[in-house]
Amino acid sequence: MKSIGAAVFFVVDKIDILKKVPIFGDLSDSDLRSIVDKMVSHTYKKGQIILMEDSIGEHCFFLTRGKVKITRLSSDGREVILALLASGDFFGEMSLLDGESRSANVVALENTKALTLNMEDFLTALEMYPKVAINLLRELAVRLRKSDEQIASLSLSDAERRIALSLLRIAEEQGIIHQGHVTVNPLPFQQDIANMAGTSRETVSRTYGLLEADGYIDRDGRKLVIMDYDRFLSDFS
Ligand code: CMP
Repeated sequence: MKSIGAAVFFVVDKIDILKKVPIFGDLSDSDLRSIVDKMVSHTYKKGQIILMEDSIGEHCFFLTRGKVKITRLSSDGREVILALLASGDFFGEMSLLDGESRSANVVALENTKALTLNMEDFLTALEMYPKVAINLLRELAVRLRKSDEQIASLSLSDAERRIALSLLRIAEEQGIIHQGHVTVNPLPFQQDIANMAGTSRETVSRTYGLLEADGYIDRDGRKLVIMDYDRFLSDFS
C-alpha cells in the first residue's frame, strides 16, 4: 500500500517538474502524464560530459535543474561555447529531427538533472501535441536568431572586439544589473576606453554606433545600457 502511494507521488512530482519546461507549458495534466510516463530521470555531476559531438543521437533532454554549456572545438583546438542552457531548456533534439549525429558537446556546469525521452517517444509527442511542436519551433527560431547575431558579431574587427571587451570589464566593475540590463553611469570618456582597448577614440565612437545598431547597447549622454548582458557576454567574451 505504502509503495503504491509512493509511486503515485513520484508521478505527480514529475508532472510538476515537467510543467516548468516551457515547451510543455500548454498541455493539460493528463497529456503531461502520458509524456512523463515515458521519461527517465538522470542526474549529472558538475563537469560531466552529457553528450559528445558526433555520437549517435538517441534521446532528447529536458533540463529540470542546473546548467549546461553547448560546445564545439574550433579548427585550432579551442573550445567554443555555442550556448548556455538552464533549467527549463531542452537539448539533443537536433539529431533526433534530422537523423545526423550530435552537432555539439553538452557538459554540465553544475550538478544537473534532466528528464529524457527516446527518439520514438519524442517524435510521437510532437505529432500528438502540435502545441509542443510549435513551442519547440519557436525556441529553435530564438536559437537561430542568436546564432545569426553571433555570426554578425564575428565580423567585428579585433579593435571593435577589444572595445566590446572593455565595456564588459567596466560593466562588471561598475555596472548596475537590473532584469538582464546593465547600466553604467557615467561611462568613462571615449578616449579612456580607447586607451583601455589600445585603439583610437574614433574607432570607439564608430564601434558604439555598430553596437547600438545591432541592439547590444543603448546610450544617453554618458549613460550606457547593455541591453542583454548574457547575450553581450556570450557574443564577445
Ligand atoms: P544535438 O545535435 O542532438 O546534440 C547537441 C545539442 O546541442 C543539439 O542537439 C542542440 O540541442 C544543442 N545545440 C547545438 N547548437 C546549439 C546552439 N547554437 N544553441 C543552443 N543549443 C544548441
